[in-house]
Amino acid sequence: MKPRNHSIEVSATYEDLSERAAAAIFEVMRSAPRGLYCLAAGDTPRRAYRLLARRVLDEGLNVSEMRFVGLDEWIGLDGHDRGSCRALLNELLFGPLGIRMDRIAFFDAKSADLPGECRKIDEWIADWGPIDLVVLGIGMNGHLGFNEPGTRAETLSHAMDLEEVTQSVGTKYFDSGTAPAGGLTIGLGQIMGAKRALLMASGEGKAGIVRRAFSSDSFPEIPASILLRHPRFSLLLDAAAATGV
Ligand code: F6R
Repeated sequence: MKPRNHSIEVSATYEDLSERAAAAIFEVMRSAPRGLYCLAAGDTPRRAYRLLARRVLDEGLNVSEMRFVGLDEWIGLDGHDRGSCRALLNELLFGPLGIRMDRIAFFDAKSADLPGECRKIDEWIADWGPIDLVVLGIGMNGHLGFNEPGTRAETLSHAMDLEEVTQSVGTKYFDSGTAPAGGLTIGLGQIMGAKRALLMASGEGKAGIVRRAFSSDSFPEIPASILLRHPRFSLLLDAAAATGV
């Protein structure tokens, strides 16, 4: 992977990776204080978000004019549910930074009107976008958000049936030991429309899928591979996740 405006940074440890990611997000936020930000949940960015929140508060960066859009949510859950994407962002960023509710658009995946939730997110991105920075993780099947293998490149927000591997890996977020079978996600078209994309991956368990996604263009079998076509893409890995790249 070597196109212009692409970078790969390999950090020794998860802590180092988190520090680099937090610094990179902070720099974009400083340069675009009225920007629109789309941030993944999941385990990988947890530490980066804690470091980011601390730095924003320590340095007094004004985040009150930023807007945020949820990347994805498990169908059947909302921010009140432990393990939901919204709950993680509330805990690590929106709460600590005091982000006002009217600055956040997030899928309410408990709604009886899921197409309406998708329209809500599409309108928010159309009104306030393009997204200045999208922060992503990668699923074990290469998904981006909940864009599972086979998703078309131009998609907007939509519901997805989740593959077995996504559901089984997803049980780690839930005390119940089961994960929902569906997700709402912004589309690959909206991810690719972001001005910058940053993907974090950590741990040896991700090394195989990171290699398959980023050593050559494997889209649409590996959705994350589409980022090789993004004009401004940063791949941030720790050493364990980077063995194949
Ligand atoms: C979460 C999301 C997912 C995760 C991916 C990796 O909002 O969009 O695509 O980024 O499943 O999850 P972790 O970081 O837990 O390995």
